[in-house]
Amino acid sequence: MELMFKDGLLKGKRILVTGGGTGLGEVMAEAYAQLGAAVYICGRRASVLEETAKRIADATGSSVQGIACDIRVAEAVEDMVAQIWSDGGALTGLVNNAAGNFISRTKDLSPRGFNAIADIVFRGSFYVTLACGKRWIESGDKASVVSILTTWIWNGGPFTVPSAMSKAGLNIMTKSLATEWGPHGIRLNAIAPGPFPTKGAWERLSPQSASRGESGGNIPMGRVGDMPELANLAVFLMADGCDYLTGQTIAIDGAMHLASGGNFASLSKLSDADWERIRGEIRSANEKDKAQRAV
Ligand code: HXC
Ligand code: NAP
Repeated sequence: MELMFKDGLLKGKRILVTGGGTGLGEVMAEAYAQLGAAVYICGRRASVLEETAKRIADATGSSVQGIACDIRVAEAVEDMVAQIWSDGGALTGLVNNAAGNFISRTKDLSPRGFNAIADIVFRGSFYVTLACGKRWIESGDKASVVSILTTWIWNGGPFTVPSAMSKAGLNIMTKSLATEWGPHGIRLNAIAPGPFPTKGAWERLSPQSASRGESGGNIPMGRVGDMPELANLAVFLMADGCDYLTGQTIAIDGAMHLASGGNFASLSKLSDADWERIRGEIRSANEKDKAQRAV
């Protein structure tokens, strides 16, 4: 990957990327490994993690380990983090990237549907942050946490309400803990990406090409994001040299949310039949992924 940083920038760093087996997590994991960090990736699909870890390790020569872990389960998170610490010492960085999402009219959601997203994003990200944070505080190690949010933390996420509520919670976690854990040398920042096309997101937010300008129509910069652009920002926040930067959420969206909201407001025009079709499409994507889960 073409990055803006010098080789070896992250030598000695040890970074966990949740949901690092696919999509944006995979891109960030590769960038960290390329710059010399030892990287851990987790997710629920062991085969996906194994394949990604091998691909990145082969491409970069760095240590990349996949650990199957469902971050919705606090005990499983504790086991994973203990395993990482005993593998080679404290992490220096954590990326809260794992997430679930699908578009739906809010009136069509069941409590289980809400929890399917909130348990991953809101609760799961907190469990991982807590398991790492208490160890850093205990040992006095400095660390950087980066959470991957969305721009709808600022203006709301119609048709993605469980995600918007959960990501907004992580935004305030970032600010709260930047203050509470600042005295321990622990920084927390967040990235709010605009559209960076990935299989996982696009399968579940399918009418996006029509509504959010996949081709760049309603993005002032006229295009969607390039993966190395996101990777550069994610590296910057993990590197030494920005130790005074904490508690910030940085949008990287070509000014989309400023110009046109950057959310799914335009889906108000969809009919009942459209929603029926969309739900079916999302369900079949979910079923395919589920079949690969070990946990
Ligand atoms: C309404 C739905 C639904 C839909 C699922 N549910 N899909 N409700 N509309 N389209 C409901 C189900 O009916 C069920 O409730 C409940 O949710 C749980 O469904 P499961 O299939 O059992 O869920 P689970 O196995 O826990 O899977 C979680 C998931 C799935 C979130 C639903 O999509 C997943 O694992 N996703 C991970 C990957 C992912 O989402 N990536 C995209 C991230 S993109 P009932 O009551 O019927 O039992 C992102 C932001 C991108 O976060 C921003 C772009 C700009
Ligand atoms: P993705 O490829 O579907 O990534 C989501 C990852 O999270 C998957 O690897 C998934 O792996 C993992 N995951 C889900 N539930 C988990 C659980 N319970 N425990 C552990 N891991 C879990 O989608 P993406 O587009 O790359 O999204 C990555 C992040 O970017 C998300 O936080 C998303 O909200 C954010 N984002 C993306 C965009 C975009 O345009 N793509 C825009 C804004 C924000 P398993 O299914 O194997 O568990």
